[in-house]
Amino acid sequence: MLVTAIEAKPLRSLMDVRVELEPGIVTLIGPNGAGKTNLLESLYFALTGRSFRTADRRDLIPFGSKFARAEASIRDEAGIERTLLASVSRDEGRRHLLDGNQADPTTLARHRPPVAVFAPDRLALVKGPPGERRAHLDRYIAARWPSRAGLRQRYGQALAQRNALLARLAGHRVAGGLDVWDEAMAEAAADLVAARSEAVAELASPFTEAAAELGLEGVAAIEYAPRAAGSATEIRDGLGERREADLKLGRSTWGPHLDELKITSTSKSLRRYGSQGQQRAALLALLFAEREALLEARRVAPLLLLDDVMSELDPERRNRLVERLRGRGQTLITAAAEESVPPHALESSVRIPIEAPAAVAA
Ligand SMILES: Nc1ncnc2c1ncn2[C@@H]1O[C@H](COP(=O)(O)OP(=O)(O)OP(=O)(O)O)[C@@H](O)[C@H]1O
Ligand SMILES: [Mg+2]
Repeated sequence: MLVTAIEAKPLRSLMDVRVELEPGIVTLIGPNGAGKTNLLESLYFALTGRSFRTADRRDLIPFGSKFARAEASIRDEAGIERTLLASVSRDEGRRHLLDGNQADPTTLARHRPPVAVFAPDRLALVKGPPGERRAHLDRYIAARWPSRAGLRQRYGQALAQRNALLARLAGHRVAGGLDVWDEAMAEAAADLVAARSEAVAELASPFTEAAAELGLEGVAAIEYAPRAAGSATEIRDGLGERREADLKLGRSTWGPHLDELKITSTSKSLRRYGSQGQQRAALLALLFAEREALLEARRVAPLLLLDDVMSELDPERRNRLVERLRGRGQTLITAAAEESVPPHALESSVRIPIEAPAAVAA
């Protein structure tokens, strides 16, 4: 699947911008503040209906305007062109349309490439709290096995119900009604933990390989050691053993909602001890590992959005990065200066217009 064009009409500082995209590596070059990140965000928004920068989509609405809108044109393997349009309005909420029609998330996801983002603030994935890594892993699972896309939500719902009941029962020693939610939570947990374990097992060696190639010192690894492993019955028994503690605290103190995806270099946590550059390399390595696994398993290359990835890499690492990207699907790279992009990456360069209103990029 290829994205052939993006339109931001309007989104943040981009009032009316359309950019045609080529297959392969597309470099977006423009000075600081030109709207490069806004353009990546427009594309991400059009594809997923979300932003990778903010949880509040209304931030995308240009100052003084009432709505934001972004559109992506996509060509699939059969050559069929489709458009995905996402919009958010102060008055009317948000919409996500396929060829002008409302569509459910699964249908939308089927008609777009999976998308992975590298942006400086996404380093939180490596250095932030475990919840960031769990959410990322669960999103990857949804891309890798579309039929498992609902596992995270199903577990979250069972957990929320169990927690609500625990909060009501807190302090009392009666466990009335908990059995049902232990059962539901255990079943959902078993599936989620199994999916996460399978995903990490698959990603582990491509991750180590990509990290070495990107120059991360030592042997880098990812590891998932779930606290609640095993069958639904075993997990239910585990919940039973912890029931007293859970009742005392009024919440579930055990389960995959507390798990960690460890990212290490020579067994040291990169979250705690990694330098900025090492964390950056680890994040890239993770995205590459996911890309490799998706290509292998589903024959689809995720679209990579790499925002400002070159600025902190030395020339050798920049070259290796570009080598990894070449011939493997579509990638958008932003850079403030052409000099920071290795010449062989400049396959197709699009300059972002600085005068945003009514401007059209070449
Ligand atoms: N909601 C908004 N409405 C209008 N303008 C906005 C909005 N949000 C951000 N901006 C403006 O968008 C511009 C930044 O655009 P963007 O972050 O895409 O720049 P950039 O090209 O990525 O720059 P850099 O090279 O520094 O990363 C800023 O001038 C900012 O004030
Ligand atoms: Mg930027």
